[in-house]
Amino acid sequence: MTGISQDRSSSSYPDPEKRWRCTVCGFLYSGDKPPKGCPRCGSPGAEFRPATEKIQFRYEGEPFDVLLINGSTHRAGNTGFLVDLAEEELNARGVSYRRFNLSEYSIEHCWCCYSVKAEYCTYPCRNWQDDMPGFHAMLGSAKAVIVASPINWNGMSGRLKDFLDRTTCFQNLFHLDKPGLTDGKVVGILICGHEDGALKTAMDIFLYFEQMGYLLAPFGIAYRTHGAQYNSSTDAEFFRDDKRIRDDVKGVVSNVVELMQLDIESRLKGRLTPVSE
Ligand SMILES: Cc1cc2nc3c(=O)[nH]c(=O)nc-3n(C[C@H](O)[C@H](O)[C@H](O)COP(=O)(O)O)c2cc1C
Repeated sequence: MTGISQDRSSSSYPDPEKRWRCTVCGFLYSGDKPPKGCPRCGSPGAEFRPATEKIQFRYEGEPFDVLLINGSTHRAGNTGFLVDLAEEELNARGVSYRRFNLSEYSIEHCWCCYSVKAEYCTYPCRNWQDDMPGFHAMLGSAKAVIVASPINWNGMSGRLKDFLDRTTCFQNLFHLDKPGLTDGKVVGILICGHEDGALKTAMDIFLYFEQMGYLLAPFGIAYRTHGAQYNSSTDAEFFRDDKRIRDDVKGVVSNVVELMQLDIESRLKGRLTPVSE
């Protein structure tokens, strides 16, 4: 039996029937399988996840090397495809990693304590109630981050902006003369979009990481836009058929891994002079 529901207020359902939640808009659907598409936001069925009760994400400290972030609103859209390619390369190289699609997590806007009382902005972040503390812990632990975003208005997605704003507590450690937790780590950046703004978006993202002391891997940015001859119905096919983006994403991942494996983070420990705004 299948049916649809407009209820998005509750996160726990006593109903034993299988329930699915659209990770983009929160639409709930009942049925054995997720629907082919979301009637509310138009997303394909791949955006649906089991509507289990949401519990706070925690990182229990099991070590891994690369944190892979899909910053898109869509877990399985074009940006998600770039992240799939990144996973292929990480698997091929036998590198330990964890992938996260931000659309599946609850990450609130930065409270911007720094703007009110700079000393309040420190690690751990004062907002410990959402899923970000788990991500903070992983950022402090992983040796490298690969972050992917669609271009939205010549910039990164809103979800990724919220996520990166929440890293201010790492940057502010330097202002507070506390030991850094992220300096000497490695970052790679993957961008997709329709027409314009790819490099600006990549550089906007990089600025956050630069201010946390990350090193951009050599040839550490891959981006692809396809132009006006494709639209949102045909762009997925474009990206999947495009050899250049496949090669470039794999190249960025490979370069991140090469730099990471030099273990520069530990060699620079205590030797860097933080220069941050
Ligand atoms: C609000 C919004 C703004 C966008 N702005 C741009 C833009 O400035 N430049 C561009 O090339 N593409 C832009 N796009 C297109 C997306 O980058 C493109 O559809 C991308 O492939 C979506 O990735 P996703 O499937 O991971 O969501 C925009 C899309 C949206 C929804």
